[in-house]
Amino acid sequence: NIYSLVMAGGQGTRFWPESTSKKPKQYLPLVSSQSLLADTLDRLDGLVKNEQRYIVTVKEQEKLVLKESAGKIGQGQVVFEPSGRNTAPCILLSLATLMKNGASKSDLVAILPSDHVILNKNGFQQTIQSALKVAVSQKRIITIGIPPHFPHTGFGYIQTGEELTETSLDVVTFKEKPNQETAISYLESGKYLWNAGMFVAEIGVLLEEFQAHCPEIFEFYDELYAALGNEKNVAEVYAKLPAESIDYAIMEKSSRIGLCKANFDWNDLGSWDALSTVVEETEGNTLVSAKNHYFEDSKGNIVYTPDQFVGLIGIEDLIVIANGKSVVVLPKKDSQKVKNIVSHLKDQE
Ligand code: GDD
Ligand code: MG
Repeated sequence: NIYSLVMAGGQGTRFWPESTSKKPKQYLPLVSSQSLLADTLDRLDGLVKNEQRYIVTVKEQEKLVLKESAGKIGQGQVVFEPSGRNTAPCILLSLATLMKNGASKSDLVAILPSDHVILNKNGFQQTIQSALKVAVSQKRIITIGIPPHFPHTGFGYIQTGEELTETSLDVVTFKEKPNQETAISYLESGKYLWNAGMFVAEIGVLLEEFQAHCPEIFEFYDELYAALGNEKNVAEVYAKLPAESIDYAIMEKSSRIGLCKANFDWNDLGSWDALSTVVEETEGNTLVSAKNHYFEDSKGNIVYTPDQFVGLIGIEDLIVIANGKSVVVLPKKDSQKVKNIVSHLKDQE
């Protein structure tokens, strides 16, 4: 019995002005005609039954979630967090909900992020299938490993050891978001893979690891379970859970982690410049727009103008965004600085 749990929270600062705290990245059609969340659900077709797919999010995003998951998620399969408390609490709340809805501890769950770009659906399904098998045979939490290509400090790094099975490896260390120096040394050692942020395990194994490694969160499991169905009671219990990510709470500490190497392309679109890695070139530029364009002597630009005509003459390596409400132009190399605009606007509120 296989369940999926898609985590759809997030702050939405780096793809401003398209992403906002009310509408984070996963609800945007950044690379295809539909949102990243809708793509994420499509990737589960044939792998997980519609009735066994869950999404966890905050109440404010209810409408967006229901719209994006139309037909793929049944009634009652959206878990609402009273507030965003990072991934460990949101996973525990979701596991409690699955159990309440009739799942058993030996059932499997694939926990997935909602905001990644993966184009190779078959490869994705193959990898998850292997992970599901290994999760059962080894009674471990299985991660998915991506070959790293630069010392990114926003990912988890996984050092692998001996083979567990033909398709999986033991995990020796898991280090979440190392500093730059450490990330460089990991990359140079050639021994580490990036954590894709996906976790496959039996529900019972996850609960055991919660209990063993973050009792400060797990101690509320029974209370949460008992409160389910009553929004106010859930909120009261949930407020007591420390905000922590699953990576720090469990993955760094547990010795029951395994890894399957990803058999698919993977992109955690971190900021506007990353679009060039997932969108085909248009006349030497990256263009996302449903409307017409005119490019002359312009190359290397990232242009996101979903519903507007755009004309560029003689410009290079810029990010150009216009979404009807705001216009943003900046050098591609300063992609991360978009968040300065977000902070500026916050200060003015
Ligand atoms: N419902 C809900 N509630 N979802 C959340 C919350 C929350 O409080 N916090 C985060 N999420 C969702 C995000 O929307 C995303 O889909 C996923 O959980 C992971 O959260 P991020 O905040 O994007 O984590 P990260 O990118 O910093 O790090 C994780 O992903 C990396 C790969 O992209 C870690 O697992 C890293 O180890 C990993 O390398
Ligand atoms: Mg992320």
